[in-house]
Amino acid sequence: MCGIVAYIGQQEAYPIIINGLKRLEYRGYDSAGIALMNNGMKVYKTKGKVSDLEAVCEGQDIVANLGMGHTRWATHGEPNDNNAHPHLSQSGNLSVIHNGIIENYATIKEALVKRGHSFSSDTDTEVLVHLIEDIQESENVAIDVAVRMALSQVVGAYAIVILVQNEPTKMIGARKGSPMVVGIGKDKKEFFIASDATPFLEYTRDVIYLNDNEVVVLKDDDFEITTIDNVKKTPFIEKLEINLEQIEKGGYEHFMLKEIYEQPKSIFDSIRGRMDIPSSTFHMQSIREYENKLKNVNRLIIIGCGTSWHAGLVGEYLFEEFARLPVEVEYASEFRYRNPVIYPEDLVLAISQSGETADTLAAMELAKSKGATVFGLCNVVGSSIPRMSDAGAYTHAGPEIGVASTKAFTAQVSVLTLLALAVAELRGTITNERLQIYLRELEAVPKLVEKALKANDHIVKIAEEFKDAHNFLYLGRGVSFPVALEGALKLKEISYIHAEGYPAAEMKHGPIALIDENMPVVVIAPRKGIYEKVISNIQEVKARKGRIIAIVSEGDTKIKEIADYVIEIPETEEALSPLISTIPLQLLAYHIAVMRGCNVDQPRNLAKSVTVE
Ligand code: G6P
Repeated sequence: MCGIVAYIGQQEAYPIIINGLKRLEYRGYDSAGIALMNNGMKVYKTKGKVSDLEAVCEGQDIVANLGMGHTRWATHGEPNDNNAHPHLSQSGNLSVIHNGIIENYATIKEALVKRGHSFSSDTDTEVLVHLIEDIQESENVAIDVAVRMALSQVVGAYAIVILVQNEPTKMIGARKGSPMVVGIGKDKKEFFIASDATPFLEYTRDVIYLNDNEVVVLKDDDFEITTIDNVKKTPFIEKLEINLEQIEKGGYEHFMLKEIYEQPKSIFDSIRGRMDIPSSTFHMQSIREYENKLKNVNRLIIIGCGTSWHAGLVGEYLFEEFARLPVEVEYASEFRYRNPVIYPEDLVLAISQSGETADTLAAMELAKSKGATVFGLCNVVGSSIPRMSDAGAYTHAGPEIGVASTKAFTAQVSVLTLLALAVAELRGTITNERLQIYLRELEAVPKLVEKALKANDHIVKIAEEFKDAHNFLYLGRGVSFPVALEGALKLKEISYIHAEGYPAAEMKHGPIALIDENMPVVVIAPRKGIYEKVISNIQEVKARKGRIIAIVSEGDTKIKEIADYVIEIPETEEALSPLISTIPLQLLAYHIAVMRGCNVDQPRNLAKSVTVE
């Protein structure tokens, strides 16, 4: 994964790069490094976070108008000082930062070792910079030509930036499969490169999203984009709309908490203007454009990873229930390595917050190669997934910085609800009366979420009680089963407590053996749903002394009698209940993690945007 930032212009590069890296730390945070061009190339790097890098740079010569920085999420080589980027070429003339994986690095390394190269790290990245220099010297070509030649030999994914010591007014960027955005500064007199636009938002909103297989050469007053095959490209400059406040904490202790509390707004923003309730109509371009396809489609395949896959499972329920469409939900990483049966008549829906998840992108590519139509449901505007989709829709959750996904999930489920209802309307599988009920209920969801958030203080007390547990079981049935999975995922991601989500009825086929007085069991049991059966499942847990925390509808009395703790949520239609029942689970995971002293926004070993396969 990793985050990259680079700057060339008239300003001091160091603060721009360091602050930019801090905004990109969600992408990885096990080591960090910087290269600055100032009477030669100065490289500082260290294991740890960007703040550790700052400590290393203190008292050093950091004055420069050109430089680049990196925050790492280790793939090849453990997190240590040596493996931190930037990496240098054999002579030290070139330095590179890299996000991605060079898959054939071992073969290239072997050949380079035979040619006299020696390596000081275990990374695939160091191999790449040595290769570039080797080509430059042996072919006697300019650096940009050598970069293009080297990249044409590379298998894998990369977003790279290269600095050249003996050409100190130039930097080169290139990408394939990993994100890279170029910021065009004032009067085209300064430029930025980064993994996303957040590092340079205060300087410019004019950006170019580099496409795969493109190389950009930047000087302090000029830039040029070509393909790896040296075909010149006319850059398409876009104006960004996000603002700085959206990526700041706004008084909350953590981004995750801020994002949990933003959900009334992010859900509202995601459905706003997309439905007209009195006339039961939808305003979504992709639905309009693909009306015929959607009327006649035989099967929907939903792909995603992590939390987005959980949203897909909710989507399965919604599309089956409303649109009577057969649905398969697949982990993108499994789907792409099988030989899945995909027909041109199929519709594939890729769900992703970041729009950059490598497995999801590869699964989309596979689906497209088999002729299927691919829709994208994505949060980050301009990212790779929407660009690769035939059509789709954005979730308007705003930037999500906390590594554990919260508001992106509920935004995804909101838009999936709209899409499922719209497709149902097209296919004539829902009566207008039912459609009206669901549209009105969906419109009310932001208010219901606001109400659900009021349970926060009560949840703090429950967290206090269970913070030292070693295991948790989460149970749900029907549409509450994916909610159980998502609740368990939140807890393990940020508190490092082992947690499992299970369909409540399946518990008796295995997990029941784990239940004793030390096992907290979170049961998602809204009244509208498979309620009575879930009560039986709760009884089964109780009979084995398990401790029950139940998420119940307001005013529930039956479960209150049996459960150790209940958290009440406002009532809604069963199909919409994940939008509400997820909220207390997010808060429970958050408070337990905080009480255990965990780094909630940057949990160990995880990254927000997984651009490796
Ligand atoms: C990572 C993140 C998760 C996210 C998953 C899929 O594992 O930590 O929060 O759900 O990737 O990411 P995407 O951006 O495709 O939704």
